[in-house]
Amino acid sequence: MQQEKTAYIFSGKAKDVYEKSIDTLLFEFTDRVTAFDGKKKSECHEKGEITCKVAEYWFKILENSGIPTHYIECPTSTSMIVKRLDIVPVEVIWRNYVAGSLLRRYEAGDNLIPEDVEPKEGSLIPGGMIDFTTKFEIVDRPVNTDEIISNGWLSKEEIKYIEDLTKRINEIMSHELATSGIILADFKVEYGRTSDGNIVLADEVGTPDGCRFWKKDDFDNGVISSLDKDVFRKNNGDLNLAYNELYNKLHNMNM
Ligand code: TMP
Ligand code: ASP
Repeated sequence: MQQEKTAYIFSGKAKDVYEKSIDTLLFEFTDRVTAFDGKKKSECHEKGEITCKVAEYWFKILENSGIPTHYIECPTSTSMIVKRLDIVPVEVIWRNYVAGSLLRRYEAGDNLIPEDVEPKEGSLIPGGMIDFTTKFEIVDRPVNTDEIISNGWLSKEEIKYIEDLTKRINEIMSHELATSGIILADFKVEYGRTSDGNIVLADEVGTPDGCRFWKKDDFDNGVISSLDKDVFRKNNGDLNLAYNELYNKLHNMNM
């Protein structure tokens, strides 16, 4: 069913955003897939529907667990209505395992990997770690908490609040996935401020676009099999199959 959309606002990498009312937005999840700051682009059949349903699944679980979010409802299988927020210009990454840019930065001489953790894809980071990148710059870049504070993006107290919330989101999602055969290796979240100044979870959460999900049985045999956008980034398989496999595994739980 086509939803009535009041005014088109902009298109992100994978979502189109419309104004629904003065204080709500409508996200339309599309089949677009991009990586490497938009340099690699494609379309993936059913991706819009899968990412919307998966985000809806996690938003409901997180809300029920006391995490404040902007989620309101999904009027169709590819669209979501959310509260309008003032988005914090920082992307927040939680890592349970070494992968992706953490390893690339290490190889380039910028070592953030905790001592005692082997700098190799798939090494467990005991207790996990958080890091931040910019948002709204032409190319997102790593940013530390001193710069976040000095740019006025977040106060020291707000950073602590966001760290605690992100840690809690990791615990909730990891707990939920414990019996699914999926490992949550890392994920990215964004936050925004409501009109009364409260910080809440924004954008989308728990989708294979913004998380690394690894198959546990393969991982236990020393092989990393991704059910997320790394399949596209690394060109190693059929993204549609990977997204469907993730969706089916979540669905088999209680989605
Ligand atoms: P990274 O290893 O490339 O920094 O990515 C860490 C996680 O965050 C990974 O699950 C992908 C996700 N992510 C995004 O969704 N969008 C982004 O812009 C970045 C940098 C990471
Ligand atoms: N920041 C990266 C990009 O723009 C995120 C990703 O690879 O998903 O593509």
